[in-house]
Formats: sequence, structure tokens, C-alpha cells
Amino acid sequence: MRVSVVGAGYVGTSSAAVLAACGHDVTCVEQNDTRLQRWRRGDDPLGEPGLAELLVRSKVNFVPDPRSIALADVVIVAVGTPPDDRGRPDITQVDAAAVEIAEYARDDTLVLVRSTVPVGTCDRLQNGPLRRLRVVSNPEFLREGRALHDAFFPDRIVAGGPPEAQGVFEELYRRIIEGRDLPGGARGERVPVLWMSARSAELAKYAANGFLATKLSFVNEIANLAFTVGADASSVLGSMAFDPRIGPQYLHPGLGWGGSCFPKDTRALEAIADGAGYDFVVLRAAIEQNTRQLTRFAAAIELAVPSRGRVGMLGLAFKAGTADVRASPAIALARRLSSRGLTVTAFDPAVSAIADEPDVQVRPTVVDACDGADAVAIATEWPEFATIDLRALRRVTRGDLLFDGRCLISPSSAVAAGFRYRSLVGFGD
Ligand code: UGA
Repeated sequence: MRVSVVGAGYVGTSSAAVLAACGHDVTCVEQNDTRLQRWRRGDDPLGEPGLAELLVRSKVNFVPDPRSIALADVVIVAVGTPPDDRGRPDITQVDAAAVEIAEYARDDTLVLVRSTVPVGTCDRLQNGPLRRLRVVSNPEFLREGRALHDAFFPDRIVAGGPPEAQGVFEELYRRIIEGRDLPGGARGERVPVLWMSARSAELAKYAANGFLATKLSFVNEIANLAFTVGADASSVLGSMAFDPRIGPQYLHPGLGWGGSCFPKDTRALEAIADGAGYDFVVLRAAIEQNTRQLTRFAAAIELAVPSRGRVGMLGLAFKAGTADVRASPAIALARRLSSRGLTVTAFDPAVSAIADEPDVQVRPTVVDACDGADAVAIATEWPEFATIDLRALRRVTRGDLLFDGRCLISPSSAVAAGFRYRSLVGFGD
């Protein structure tokens, strides 16, 4: 099938690469020339493992001109929906893409909306500018750092739209649904296709991210409470992992969830509920808890470190396995510490510089970041920080405080190396 993808961002390029690798003829339409040229050079701005190589290998075309949409059997909308100042998704780019698609696409073309959009967007497009076409909401559930794996082997495919679109839709994803004829002879399980209304599919995306974020906020509360009542957080959370109704994933406490999805999508979900006159009390609490989690960690550092002191920060990315610093708790922490007069020098294995971020000085190694620091703060859950040589680290730091914002280090090994160990939990607000 011929597929046009509008928007060469993260979702667009991951979808393009995977569909092209499944044998489709894929073209990405991208109007931002800098971004277009980067992808043409095989240069991935987010450093997603394997993505740039797969785009080249599977011969995805990058073009600036939307007229190529006229050749497509399927058009994928994968443009950005950044939050406005009240946290609501700004869907200007989706509407602009719809105008182009309406102008060029053939009758009955399948239009998949993969951008995360408010409930009712697909219905509005279907009954408005795209009425000649078949509009299907098809949210993505990819994790950064694992996008290709998640796209080739999804847990489920969620889609919603007119029932007559389902046949073409399933043909598009046939190899992935069947888990066979995948590149390199890889095989997967058969993937359930969950076909529903467009509104349900749109809400399903927010519901998944909102639930995972809420789970993490609850986990962080349990970790805090465990400390306060003299229990061990990892034993408590570890025991929950064995209950299949809870599951072992998203149980690791930290200084809060971040990234380009959870913060944006939880606020968007709250705005969707508000707009419908529904008070989503649990979600509001989860968002509030996430802010407090970071604030109490920052406050504990500020209280212990001498004024105008320096913090050696380990980690800048919003999570391990990515170079993405958007809505990173580590950056929020650096900003907050800097606003209180502390200096932050940081190391991250994937981030060598951050543009326009005066609150943090990026250093090339752990030792460079921590040399002479009054305290060390672990802010991203990179596995290499868990096995760091703590004695060597202590030899270069001036102070002996180690703040572990991701519960990576065992307290006893930190103490044995000469640190006073503080995890994220147990400090009053
Ligand atoms: C998230 C979802 O997991 C994807 O399913 C979804 O497709 C994506 O958003 C999106 O909407 O595009 P991602 O933003 O890549 O994916 O991040 P996650 O791996 O889910 O992590 C989110 C945050 O939770 C990170 O800050 C991470 O450090 C934190 N986290 C995660 C924890 O603190 N503890 C955990 O146990 C797991």
C-alpha cells in the first residue's frame, strides 16, 4: 500500500519506518526544512535506537510537498499537539494537516490520526473537512528508547472509526497483527486489534497514560509513607509486583514522572474532564503529587547543602535510555536548585549539551560533574549510576551527602563508601 505520513516527528517517523519495513511504500511529508534535511541525512534528533537506520534501509522518502498525498491509499496524521498555556492540546497543526489532506487525497482514502488529540477531534474532521474520506483514530503507545520494539510487537492495536474502514486498516498492519513476515525473520504473538468508536480510541490513549502516571504517583506516595513509618519501600513495592492484578511494571519510585507524554497527557485529560463538567479527582491528585514529589526532594537538598554550594547531578534525561530532556524532572530539579542560589554541574551518558539552559552546566564525566561538589544528586535512573564506584566518587566530592532521587543505590553501600545517604523519601514538606 502507499502511505503518506504527515509530520516527521517521533510518532511519524517511527510509524513510517515500521510500515515501510513491513513492505509498504512510505513517504513522510515534512514542511520544516531543517527537520526534513536532518532525516534525509539519517540524523535522528532524539537518538531513538535503530530508527534512523531503519528509515534509510526501508527507503522511506522525505518530501516537503503535500501533493504526494494524492498518491496515498492511507494518510497518517502525526503532527504535534503541544499544550497551550492552560494545558489543553493545541490542535492547530492537526487542523492544518486536515486542510492539506482534504485538498489532495483521493475519495475514500483512509486517514489515521496518530497524534494524541482531544476526544471528538476525529468525529469533527470526519463530519467536516475530511467528510469524503474515512477518518480513524489510531493512537500510539510507543515508549521512547523502545519505539521500534513497541511498534513491531505492540500489546494491542487500538483503532476507532467507521466500521467499513476496518478491512483496509487491518491490511495495513497485517504483518504486525499476525506477528510474521517481519523484517529479519522476527516473529511475534498475534496482536489483538481493538476496534471501537473514534471517541473511545482517543480517550483510550489518555486513559493509558493517565493510569500509568497515577500508578507512579501512588507508588511514590507509598515509598514516602514507608520511610515515614519505618518500613522498607522496596520490600513493600516488591511484594505488590507479585500480584498479577498490579503487575511488576511502573512500580519503581522516583522524584516524579516526566517526558513529553505523561505531563502533557495528564493535563490534557484533566482539561477534557473539566470541559465535560467532570471533576476527575484522582487524576488531579496524581498531578499534584508529582509536583510535590520533586519539590520535597529539592527542599531536602536545599536544607542540607551550604548556601551558594554546588550539587553534582547525575542524569539530565527524563528517563534512562533516551537523550530527551523535555519535561525532565532532572532539569526541573536543576532549575529549582539554581533559583535557590545553588550551582548545578551535571553528567548524563546521553546528553552532552543543553541549549538555552543556564541553570545547569553539563560536564563530560561523572567525576567532572561531582569534583568538589557539596552533594551528589541522582536524578535519572541510568543503570550505570547503580554500579558507580562510590568510594572513587567520594574521593572527589567535597561534601559527603548523596541524594538518591531514583532509589538506585543501596543505602549500606553508600554509607560504606563514606556518604551520608538520603533517598527521595522521608523529608517533610
Ligand atoms: C509513555 C508511555 O509509557 C507510552 O506507552 C506512550 O506511548 C508514550 O508515553 C506517549 O504517549 O507517547 P514515555 O514518555 O517514553 O512513554 O515514558 P515512560 O517510559 O512511560 O516513562 C515516563 C516517566 O515515568 C519517566 O519520567 C520515568 O522515569 C518514570 N517512571 C517510569 C518511573 O519513575 N518509575 C517507573 O517504574 C517507570
